[in-house]
Amino acid sequence: MEQKETPHIKPNGVEIAETILLPGDPLRAKFIAETYLDNPVQFNSVRNMFGYTGSYQGKKVSVMGTGMGMPSMSLYSWELIHVFGVKNLIRIGTCGAIQDQMNLYDIVLAMGASTDSRYVHQYDLPGEYSNIASFSLLEKAKKGADEKGFPVHVGNVLSSDIFYNADSTAIEKWRKMGILCVEMETAGLYMNAAYAGVNALTILTVSDHILRNEQTTPEERQNAFTQMMEIALGLA
Ligand code: ADE
Repeated sequence: MEQKETPHIKPNGVEIAETILLPGDPLRAKFIAETYLDNPVQFNSVRNMFGYTGSYQGKKVSVMGTGMGMPSMSLYSWELIHVFGVKNLIRIGTCGAIQDQMNLYDIVLAMGASTDSRYVHQYDLPGEYSNIASFSLLEKAKKGADEKGFPVHVGNVLSSDIFYNADSTAIEKWRKMGILCVEMETAGLYMNAAYAGVNALTILTVSDHILRNEQTTPEERQNAFTQMMEIALGLA
């Protein structure tokens, strides 16, 4: 049988599930596979972008790192969708909050993803496209978070190409438009998913508050990470 592979994903015959969790950090993918999945099998190690397939409560689930930023997220999600037939892509990551009502460790469900990236221009649409989450995944995630009593915000995030912003007024402009937080991948993911007619959702925890200049430590982030994982695995 012909084995599918791409320049960045070489599974050597290991199946990739229709539902995949996508942390930015490949070591997070390893941790998730080893901690939450039954019988995880590694399907990718190209460029150390580790990917695994296992099962969760009897359902097949994969998990793979995406790297940081729109180009990295977009090439991996494109290959997963178009070559490996992935149907549900769930990004799990961190963000910097820019609204007063938000606190460190809160969870954000990205209903929409605005962006300053040119990645989205490749589709050459005759206007501004709204990058939005899959409603079915979003609804399920919100319900899961509410049932568990987790602090969750649902709204528009900014997928930015810029981590260190030379223009100090840029964030304030986005804040005034109600953007909840800044991250660097979701708009590319949502646009790729929409183009292919598959489902995507981003779940984030607040790792820093940009306006209040507050940061968490990796150890402190673990509890929020566990909450985010419970929501994400509820979608499997
Ligand atoms: N991810 C986590 N914190 C971030 C920030 N401040 N800006 C962009 N992406 C982030």
